[in-house]
Amino acid sequence: MPVQTVPLTLPPSADPTKFTQFGREVIGVDPGNLSPAEFAEIEQLLYTHDALLFRNAKFSPEQQYALTRAFDPTSESYGHGNNKTQSTKKSILHPDLKTIPRVPQVQLIGNGTVYNHEGLEVAPLKHPSHRTFHKTTVSLEDEAHGATRFYRWHIDAALYELSPPKVTTLYAVRVPQGPQQICRYDDGTGDELPVPLGTTAFVSGKTMFDILPRELQSVAVRARVRYAPHPYVWMGPAAAHSTGLAIESEGKELPLDQLPPWTEDKIKVLPVTWKNPVTGALHFQVHPCAAHELLIDPLPEGASREDALYPDGAHLTDIKEVRDLLYKMQRPAIAPSLIYPHDWKEKDLVLFHNRGVLHTVVGAFKPDEVRAFHQCNLAASSTPVGPTPEDVNKYA
Ligand SMILES: [Fe+2]
Repeated sequence: MPVQTVPLTLPPSADPTKFTQFGREVIGVDPGNLSPAEFAEIEQLLYTHDALLFRNAKFSPEQQYALTRAFDPTSESYGHGNNKTQSTKKSILHPDLKTIPRVPQVQLIGNGTVYNHEGLEVAPLKHPSHRTFHKTTVSLEDEAHGATRFYRWHIDAALYELSPPKVTTLYAVRVPQGPQQICRYDDGTGDELPVPLGTTAFVSGKTMFDILPRELQSVAVRARVRYAPHPYVWMGPAAAHSTGLAIESEGKELPLDQLPPWTEDKIKVLPVTWKNPVTGALHFQVHPCAAHELLIDPLPEGASREDALYPDGAHLTDIKEVRDLLYKMQRPAIAPSLIYPHDWKEKDLVLFHNRGVLHTVVGAFKPDEVRAFHQCNLAASSTPVGPTPEDVNKYA
């Protein structure tokens, strides 16, 4: 019998016409004990819909690692690699990650202090806050009244040496209840989004590409991003835009010669659009904060040059120019109507196609609001596939 699914429940803020394919709740199967036939269906469903929800899942760290690995059986290490290296100790991601001792590929993330949890006696956790990352912050008074921000829109990926994970699994062990918050963009548009406390917000990389005007789709299919070496160390001293979608260009990034040792061959140069392995659709998959340079190919032979941007190709190395172009292409897709903010319940398991969506932590907890999640993703055994020559001819 085929695996049963129903559409995800969308909040009133979402435009349902933009979510016909995105997200499904899977019912009637145990995600910790899938038969090979069920897994094959789940794999197809995940790449078709980009996010799958299982409610009331009983799901151990061992089962989480096994299911995550099933999507990429030859991958082994956590998506950000070994936590003990010099580069990860200096990384801005380091304080957010605690490893489950029995299954080091599974991380404990959340807020407050968790005791006697899966072999961890005491785990002090801190929900990432825009206060430590954005250039400007919501006033404490507004925050007390429920105003908040997106933290950092991203793909789960080291973006140096390792390949971006295919799938991330997030399992909610403890979810504190609290009032809705209002996520403010604070970018002059007046945009804001009501969100459940501590939501994870998702946007579709396919929608991000689909809604672009033609001249920017043309750039997107011709472009590759060169990421900074050790990007999370590099961006450490810098501050982000109020939407969490970019770094402010103030020259604060760590100079390349002050980073932990790096080599050219480990730098990641990845296509801007990644081809979905099941649907063949193109997803705009760029980690905006980690991007360093853009390499744009010339228009293919025979393509119209009318209104074309960079018809002869370009290598953009001015960081502000790189960021401004990416922001212009990515900002439309984080409009309130295009966001799926998941309303977490305990024992929710969400699988998301990390090569098909962008996501962000949202909101702020008080220290006594204890939240515990298990997260797993694995550095992939292969690099993302970009557009085919046919795709380039179609969109360029
Ligand atoms: Fe993430």
